[in-house]
Amino acid sequence: MLNRVQASIDLKALQHNFSIARRYSSLKKAARVAAVIKANAYGHGLEQAANALDEAELFGVTDVREALTLKKSGTDKPILVLQGLIHEDDLKLVVEHNFQLVVHSTSQLATIDDTLSKLTLKAPLTLWLKMDSGMGRLGLSPQDYAATYQALQNKTYVDSVVMMTHLANSSMPESMLNTQQLQEFRQQEGQLQGKCITSIPSSSGILSELPVDCDWARPGIMLYGSSPFNFNEAHLRREQFGLQAVMTLQARIIAIKALKKGDNVGYCSQFICPQDMTVGIVSIGYADGYPSNAPNGTPLMVGGKKTGTVGRVSMDMIGVDLSDIPDAKVGDLATLWGADLSVDEVAAKTGILSYNLTCSVARRVAFEYI
Ligand SMILES: Cc1ncc(COP(=O)(O)O)c(C=O)c1O
Repeated sequence: MLNRVQASIDLKALQHNFSIARRYSSLKKAARVAAVIKANAYGHGLEQAANALDEAELFGVTDVREALTLKKSGTDKPILVLQGLIHEDDLKLVVEHNFQLVVHSTSQLATIDDTLSKLTLKAPLTLWLKMDSGMGRLGLSPQDYAATYQALQNKTYVDSVVMMTHLANSSMPESMLNTQQLQEFRQQEGQLQGKCITSIPSSSGILSELPVDCDWARPGIMLYGSSPFNFNEAHLRREQFGLQAVMTLQARIIAIKALKKGDNVGYCSQFICPQDMTVGIVSIGYADGYPSNAPNGTPLMVGGKKTGTVGRVSMDMIGVDLSDIPDAKVGDLATLWGADLSVDEVAAKTGILSYNLTCSVARRVAFEYI
């Protein structure tokens, strides 16, 4: 049976992008690379991504539930739970499976200490103690950091503590906040006795010139073939880093119409034909994860040619201008993004981040792994 909508996931491209992440990370002295595959590998498939990313030293997921799904899929790699404990019951599973855990608040520390001080663990835990160096989201304040880190290191239930932070603006490398965050981090690092294991950059930090030298890099979006930087900065697009598209999203043309100047296309007259036009109807909509706010002219490819959407996105249909693609026929596939059309370009046009676009591809879409 032919697919109405399909997402083809190129696992070789994923592996290729990981090798790029490895190369750039090594420029930051980061010998270890944690592949961030949370949120179902940014919508690409958790298990398939994990199997393909054999070279990664560790996998980063959001919560214990995702960690468990990944563990059950058979991976033997360490798994890091990036949001740490959501509920104290999570700790049982963390201990049982020896998950690594981000600890980002004193209340999480108290829960961990209350429970684990009374137990003798088969294997002590690796904790990633997060500092809020300026993101204003998760993490201990710099003032509390060094003392908490030292205390944690001496606990019997702890194997090692990774010193981590997350940069808010590394996709805007010129932002002063990067300098401030790195200063905070280095200051606390300097207060710790002995060499500690550190982790700073996500994709944008890895690919930028920021001084983020550390032991562990944590790439996410770049693994999926997206540039984390502003699409308008042509020198920072995915191809400049050698990144390859992992997801190609395609859908079928199900109708082609000859419309006259002044004719309406779709709901709420978002598009009125400015001249006589050929318009195709492609069977994909917001129920498939295509962004409902896509404006007229959002790029897509038909028959190897770039064209644009016309009219408002429906639940499972969009209109597309086929006036300059006379060979297009019902049954052909249109490409919404992929190897020939960067998801980053669609993101720039719609104002929906590439992260959001791939994460949103719906379950009813047929996924194929190539
Ligand atoms: C703590 C942490 N590290 C790394 C990443 C990966 O970021 P990116 O996908 O921008 O590479 C994320 C993603 O949100 C994160 O929260």
